Amino acid sequence: MITLDARLAAAASLVRFGSRVADVGTDHGYLIASLLQKGQASYGYACDIHEMPLESARQTLQSCGLTEKATLLLGDGLNGISPEQVDDVVIAGMGGEMILHILDEAGWQDPRHRFILQPMTKVHELRAGLYGRGYEILQEKAASVGKFVYTVMQVRWSCEKKAVDELFARVGKLPESQEPEAALYLQRQRDTVRQIAENMEKSNTNSNKVKELYELADEIQRILSRKKEG
Ligand SMILES: C[S@@+](CC[C@H](N)C(=O)[O-])C[C@H]1O[C@@H](n2cnc3c(N)ncnc32)[C@H](O)[C@@H]1O
Repeated sequence: MITLDARLAAAASLVRFGSRVADVGTDHGYLIASLLQKGQASYGYACDIHEMPLESARQTLQSCGLTEKATLLLGDGLNGISPEQVDDVVIAGMGGEMILHILDEAGWQDPRHRFILQPMTKVHELRAGLYGRGYEILQEKAASVGKFVYTVMQVRWSCEKKAVDELFARVGKLPESQEPEAALYLQRQRDTVRQIAENMEKSNTNSNKVKELYELADEIQRILSRKKEG
């Protein structure tokens, strides 16, 4: 059986049981192979834009005896798959901008799909970009691997375009989670926001923005304190 690290395990946990899954940017193919092994995915599409990672996914699927349960696709994002072929789409281990690019290019605007997104960078831009385009985050989970803390979100098309505030862009739905990793994520966000404020203060840029950022860091701290009180 394939063993996933905490980041990919968190992504897998947000995939609906029995769904047909596209794993975009599959690389090693561990996620899709694990989902198929457990029966959590009934069929898989392992997609990658580069040949070498796709070959690596092919080997993983072959060594697990899963080749008949999956299709390998070489291409950008969801190119080559129609919305009717898939229920859930995982896009993990990519930057927030690339994730938005893949969603924009696909243009799947159907609330029946779930997008399980695990961004490595530009996470607050991703949250704001999702709501600005008409998606909503249904659930969010944090996962820690070594010194890194990641977030994974389960997203659906909602048709309603919304602006999100800076707090939501920074922490998403993680204040709702009771998991210790969520508290760790919030601590990291608080520290990041404070650091940005301190750097801006030192370079004397935009004092209103500096004040806003300190207030945002304090707000994240208040969420953490409430969590501690239980
Ligand atoms: C860092 S790896 C992440 C692998 C795996 N999803 C994970 O989270 O461990 C990113 C993979 O995405 C692929 N990739 C990057 N841009 C892509 C795109 N537009 N469409 C499909 N695959 C892409 C890369 O070739 C690479 O294999």
